[in-house]
Amino acid sequence: MSGEKTVNQIRDMKKEGKKIVMLTAYDFPFASIIDKSGVDIILVGDSLANVVLGLPSTRDVDIDVMLHHARAVNRGVKKALLVGDMPYSSYQLDTKKAVKDAKRFVEEAGCAAVKLEWFDNCITVTQEIINSGIPVMNHVGLTPQTADKLGGFKVQGKDAEAAERIMEQARALESAGCFSIVLECVPDRLAEIITRELQIPTISCGAGPYCDGQVLVTHDLVGLFEGKTPKFAKRYVDVGKLVEEGVKQFCADVRDNRYPDQAHSYSISEEELKKLRDKVL
Ligand code: KIV
Repeated sequence: MSGEKTVNQIRDMKKEGKKIVMLTAYDFPFASIIDKSGVDIILVGDSLANVVLGLPSTRDVDIDVMLHHARAVNRGVKKALLVGDMPYSSYQLDTKKAVKDAKRFVEEAGCAAVKLEWFDNCITVTQEIINSGIPVMNHVGLTPQTADKLGGFKVQGKDAEAAERIMEQARALESAGCFSIVLECVPDRLAEIITRELQIPTISCGAGPYCDGQVLVTHDLVGLFEGKTPKFAKRYVDVGKLVEEGVKQFCADVRDNRYPDQAHSYSISEEELKKLRDKVL
């Protein structure tokens, strides 16, 4: 059930001035590698829809798809706090379903907490889930599940009025009892003010360096997503290129009879082979 890290430890990291590192994972091998690498939080993000399933929108995944992947991730996580990202249809339409589906993330997939995105009824739903005993991380600024209402995938909070709205959302979510908040695609200086104002940690997703932590979509970080990526998504390695090179070499080796060689084949003794030949040939 989740890793050793607790929600309280994540909260304390802000007080201790320690940066929080969060990454997404969607399957067992990545979860194991990311966990071993020492991140603090692993999020089974609904970005799964885009970077793993090749779907156009994060709204294209439902609770059953998310749980299928969350269970696989959970098998690989030993240390990090495991957070399940609630898909749009599991919490934005019906508060009762929200609580039920949050429980499924915990009971069926071993998550220690869930993440929601800001929407009109967000405070009520957040409080209901917290009252049921499940810690909640929230998400303000650019909220991909409802990006159509925000004018698309654009930086949010660029004028004082919009910035104040995001600030108020963050304050209300802290009062509702969230243990942390993701700030996505907002100006760095707005994120700095929110981070100073809140007691709970802020996690930047394209919100600059002044937040208490940083999150990236792992497939952007390792070069496994070839679609359009935002400005803040820094590629640290190009695993996609390495995979392509390996596959090209395999194709060439098979076609030129270099694979498999003796080192990658099984043998039978001459004696047993002779017996077989005598019998069947
Ligand atoms: O779904 C996701 O991957 C996310 C993170 C980028 C915060 O919500």
